[in-house]
Amino acid sequence: AGRLLTELIGGRRPPWADLYDPRRLWTQVREAPAFLRHQTEVARHFVGDRLRPGGADAVAGIAPGTGEVVRVHGRHCAVYRDEDGTAHAVSARCTHLGCLVAFNAAERAWECPCHGSRFAPDGAVLQGPAVRPLERREVGE
Ligand code: FES
Repeated sequence: AGRLLTELIGGRRPPWADLYDPRRLWTQVREAPAFLRHQTEVARHFVGDRLRPGGADAVAGIAPGTGEVVRVHGRHCAVYRDEDGTAHAVSARCTHLGCLVAFNAAERAWECPCHGSRFAPDGAVLQGPAVRPLERREVGE
């Protein structure tokens, strides 16, 4: 507080001054609708993605160079088919908090819609907050 007051009295505004601004709570209230919208979207994915139909036949229908989440033996699998036609399967459950990932064809990556984790087609973590890779799965083509 002493350093901040010294800076403000001297006519300078340090970059960390907003951290101590007594109006900072107003900013959080102002951003509450966007925060609630985001949390609603997270909840929608968390529940809705689990209700999507799947099937083992869906694995055969995945085109080379693309990926899809399919349900195999009751489990959601993220299946990527490489350009040679080989299917690579990992768990579709994000290792952060369990949302289902979706394939981003432009990035060739599995992405979690809940908090933004990204994984390589083989399940390796590209970007957090997840720190553990997606587990490998057998889809038995
Ligand atoms: S649940 Fe996937 S990033 Fe949080």
